[in-house]
Amino acid sequence: MTSALTSRPGRLMAAEIREQPAIWRNLLAHGGAAGIDAAAEMIRARRPRAVLFVARGTSDHAALYAKYLVEIRHGLPAGLVSPSTMTAYGARPDLRDVLMIGVSQSGGSPDLVRSLAVAGEQGALTVAVTNDVSSALARTAHAHVDVLAGPERSVAATKSYTAQLLALYLLLERVRDVDGRVAAAPLPDLGDALLARADEIVALAQRYRFAQRMLTTARGYSYPTAREAALKLMETSYVSAQAFSGADLLHGPLALVDPQVPVLAVVASGVGGAAMGDVLPRLAERSADVCCVGHPAAVADAAVGFTLPDGAPEELSPLLEILPFQLLALHVSVGRGGDPDAPRGLSKVTETL
Ligand code: M6R
Repeated sequence: MTSALTSRPGRLMAAEIREQPAIWRNLLAHGGAAGIDAAAEMIRARRPRAVLFVARGTSDHAALYAKYLVEIRHGLPAGLVSPSTMTAYGARPDLRDVLMIGVSQSGGSPDLVRSLAVAGEQGALTVAVTNDVSSALARTAHAHVDVLAGPERSVAATKSYTAQLLALYLLLERVRDVDGRVAAAPLPDLGDALLARADEIVALAQRYRFAQRMLTTARGYSYPTAREAALKLMETSYVSAQAFSGADLLHGPLALVDPQVPVLAVVASGVGGAAMGDVLPRLAERSADVCCVGHPAAVADAAVGFTLPDGAPEELSPLLEILPFQLLALHVSVGRGGDPDAPRGLSKVTETL
């Protein structure tokens, strides 16, 4: 039976968005118990020469973020594996020097479980980063990390995403013998401060209430934010949203830009944000309707925007950047009469093969 409370559109998604800073606090306090130390020890002992990730949907964007961490901070090659290569196509690569990390909120997507199992058979060290440590993915992997997000009931993943980002960050820092909790310590308070400004996003949602198409763009560590923002807008609000890295945008998709297609740009402080300096003038030449989520100077130059709080290093900024987009997706959806907790045609675990 559906109660009056559970039937309020977006109730679950709104609550799960608000929970995030508390989840980060808990993960920072109990990361060792979540399996981070044990998994990191196992990875250090194996000294992998490359890291592959396997994931779907929102979890795939968390994996993309971790790919940047591995490439930039570990200096190792990293890639996202398409699960179908080892499941449907039966590929059997030699993975003896490889670490494969499966990222999944549910730990239940069968193609991920199968991919991790095959990777283990092919010699890889396998680690599951999941919100359900009793899941098939966790049981299949050599080690698992609990992202400690608590049960996520809205179909639109929100809190599990930022918990995955933080768990992956802490794990990968631990592998290179750095205590990531130090740099991450300010995040929960910054997240609370950001979420206290939710009214600003309600106003933005009003602006985009009738938008049918949108583009999202960012560079570097923020590119996964652009991807995840587009996914949230697609699945909750049925906006045809396409994400491009700022670099790729200039190699063709720029032709899509006109004043009728809002462009949501992430311009955080740091290398990725600075690289957006090549992109924003090209958008201005096309008279784009740019909404900037980023540092104050970038927001001041855009038609509209949302200023990110100062105080997080660039590589941790994605945890904060996604919050305004989650709120935007929620409010656009509800403003259009939708229910982001139960988007049409979707259920919580997608079984794809
Ligand atoms: O449970 P998983 O993380 O493996 O699920 C992956 C996707 O099905 C999931 O992220 C889906 O894309 C969400 N609806 C996104 O909000």
